[in-house]
Amino acid sequence: MTTLVAVGAQWGDEGKGKLVDWLAPQAQLVVRFHGGNNAGHTLVVDGEQTILHVVPSGILQPGTVNLIGPGVVVDPEILLGELSVLQERGVLRDPSRVRVSGRAHVILPWHRALDKAREERARGRAIGTTGRGIGPAYEDKAARRGIRVADLLDAEVLGEALRRIAEQKNFELVEYYGWEAIDVESLEREAVEWGRRLEPYVEHTERTLESALRDGLNVLFEGAQGNFLDIDHGTYPYVTSSNCVAGAVCAGAGVGPTRIDRVLGITKAYTTRVGGGPFPSELEGEAGEALRRAGEEFGATTGRPRRCGWLDAVMLREAATVNGYTALAVNKLDVLSGIDELKIAIAYEIDGKRVEDFPMTLAEIERAVPVYESHPGFEENLRECRDYSHLPATARAYVDRIEALVGVPVELISIGPEREETICRVEPFRD
Ligand code: IMP
Repeated sequence: MTTLVAVGAQWGDEGKGKLVDWLAPQAQLVVRFHGGNNAGHTLVVDGEQTILHVVPSGILQPGTVNLIGPGVVVDPEILLGELSVLQERGVLRDPSRVRVSGRAHVILPWHRALDKAREERARGRAIGTTGRGIGPAYEDKAARRGIRVADLLDAEVLGEALRRIAEQKNFELVEYYGWEAIDVESLEREAVEWGRRLEPYVEHTERTLESALRDGLNVLFEGAQGNFLDIDHGTYPYVTSSNCVAGAVCAGAGVGPTRIDRVLGITKAYTTRVGGGPFPSELEGEAGEALRRAGEEFGATTGRPRRCGWLDAVMLREAATVNGYTALAVNKLDVLSGIDELKIAIAYEIDGKRVEDFPMTLAEIERAVPVYESHPGFEENLRECRDYSHLPATARAYVDRIEALVGVPVELISIGPEREETICRVEPFRD
């Protein structure tokens, strides 16, 4: 039995979905433990693309059960839409392959409306959220007035709670933001219908997880977003509203820290960010554009162009410390092909002083000027390489340097979106 946590080491979009799909044949259980449909995991199988927002990326591997844990926020319409598509495509014949925690909080229409209304009002200081209602849903959870998936199954409890909460939400929407009120009666009817359709999937997922561990199954925990979007460890306030670090697995899935064997940090071979906030190694102008074109860097959830820049080892070192990575996966190495000179940020200069560690405050991060190290690039197309030794010497030197700078072994390298475009140096699920 092995438990493996796969988490993003940057600002999300590191290619976690592809790797979780690749790792899933070795796991029997795949578990999401935080975030919601702000995530967009792109999977490509035999040239066919699937973008998942809520259902764990293990679903395309027939031998897996996929859990949505209590730490996730669930938009029922999105989840039901994904389940329908998966059923139509013949991927999900047996509902027991998707299990949803009754304790997961529900994203409601006022969460989406408030998310957008606040961003509109914030203008220059907008976070650039995905507008999916994630922050407002987590706010209600922390304020102890949220509605949970299990509440959808009890029409009486649900109706009473919706009417009570609507009063406050509509007051804020109408009186403060000048938006339209949400019609609570039609919402009530809709929510009862969500409950009816979700019922076959709802479960006490902590028990499912515990029995899988007792039976010695391999469990893969699938992170969303990334270390620097974590509400505590990220570039606050330009972050999401959940904990994205490996430690969040314990609370978000309901599993003790003693049960976690390995933590895989996933990074791109360069850096991207969607939305606002500081990005020390960002490339402006044509160089950034070229990377965006080569890497097809457009958001899987919102379609927004991603900001692009050089790999930042200061960030990766920080993430390795906070998450306790046992291994790194470097994704999209193929995208760097054709660039003469590659750069890696190895330190920052802040107010003329060299700094080796990721700064504590937003103001310092905003003033950080990267100190770069240069590496010769490679011309070759890497997508045919199936073994580390097949990579050009300069590509290997680049990967070796990442390993040395972060102090964590690079065990997986992705050189294209397809499953077989993955180089595995050490089996992640070894005993
Ligand atoms: P929210 O999670 O929608 O509240 O957005 C907060 C910040 O996190 C924004 O900068 C988003 O662009 C970013 N974000 C949220 N989810 C993802 C993701 O899955 N990938 C990349 N960025 C994300």
